[in-house]
This record gives sequence, C-alpha cells and structure tokens, in this order.
Amino acid sequence: MRPLTIIVNLKHYEKSSGARAGDFLKLFRNLSVPDGCEVNFALNPIDIRIAADFPQLTFISQHVDPVSYGAHTGHISMESLKGLGIKGSIINHSERRLNPDTIRDTVLRAKEIDFQITVCCESPEEVRQFSSLEPYSIAYEPPELIGGNVSVTTSRPEIIKETAEICHSKSVKLLVGAGIKNRSDVSKSIELGADGVLLASGVVLSNNPLDTLNSLIVNL
Ligand code: G3P
Repeated sequence: MRPLTIIVNLKHYEKSSGARAGDFLKLFRNLSVPDGCEVNFALNPIDIRIAADFPQLTFISQHVDPVSYGAHTGHISMESLKGLGIKGSIINHSERRLNPDTIRDTVLRAKEIDFQITVCCESPEEVRQFSSLEPYSIAYEPPELIGGNVSVTTSRPEIIKETAEICHSKSVKLLVGAGIKNRSDVSKSIELGADGVLLASGVVLSNNPLDTLNSLIVNL
C-alpha cells in the first residue's frame, strides 16, 4: 500500500468541538488504520486536552504560535502541545490566515523541536513560497471550494499535479483539500501525485462519520 495521510479537521462545528468533542471522537473508538496509512484529527486548541481520553487516535492542532516558554500571554506553544501528546499542527488555514513571517518562524521553530507543521496554501504560488521552508507537509486548498460539493480533485487536477511536483522536489509531503467527500476523491488525489487529503465536512457532517472515514482509507 502506498503511504496515505488523512487529516480530519474538526474545525469549530458544533458536533465536533467544545462540550461535544468527546462524544464525537467516541465514534472513532473502533477506527482501524492499516499500516502505511496515517489518520490525524485536527482539534481546536481549546479542546486539545481531550486527546488524552483517546490514546488510540492521533491528534494535531488547528493552530500553533512560534513561541517558547516565557511572557507570551494567550499564545499556544509547541512545547505545551507536545507535552499533551500532540505531534503537530496545521497553520495558515484559509479560516486562520497568518503573515509570511509568522509562517516562517513557526516552521523553523517546529524543526528545532521536531513538531510536524502542515502549512495550508491557497495557490501554487503559495505552495512554491512555503515549500521552500521545507515544512513537514503542505496542504493545498482552494478557498472557494472549502465546504462545498465540488472537490479540488475534480476542479483543479492540473494544480494538484503541479503542486505535487513543487513539494516533492523539496521532499515535502503534499496534501490536498476542499470538497473531498468520497473514496474516488482520495484515489484521484493520490493518482495526481498528492500524499493524502485534508478534509472536514465530508466526515464531520456525514450521517455516519466512522463509516465515511473508513471508506476513505483506500488501498493504493
Ligand atoms: O481543513 C479542511 C478544509 O478546509 C476543507 O473543508 O469541508 O471542504 O472538507 P471541507
């Protein structure tokens, strides 16, 4: 099986965050992830401590700041996240954009402490710009397709190919996201050169999130 990475972003949906995050995650208690496949749940930082209740699942954060210990009121540090068993974070999501200096500082700091950063990018230009920092991975997501029913794989196949080439020339993994809903979106992403997908509504808002997620774990 070709390695496949899936990030399920729990965003700030009512059913998957805050007081309901635990019940939502219980749905995945029997999730079985085959060798060579990685499934990470991206938690809202305010819900991060819930990760301890689900040792069989893997978690990342939806955001992190490039700060260490010290006088940093209200920031989220990689040290704190790591201490709670969180192995990485998304940054610069379309719904939580950062300036380029902050992205650079975050990626560089993460490398120092072995924390896995996935930098979200809205265009091939951004993929080029931020893959040069060599983060753990890049996630290409056209913002206009996020949360919709037209997937990035059907709408932007050429850009997936192009961004995969850019990332792989730097040995950076490429994930793609926006509108990913089913197994054929995942297989198509991989066929086009991506290493996995970043998705949210397709799993979180489905009637049976566990079955939906299982159906996305394709054998390639
Ligand atoms: O972070 C994933 C995301 O932005 C894509 O959302 O709902 O289109 O899968 P969705």
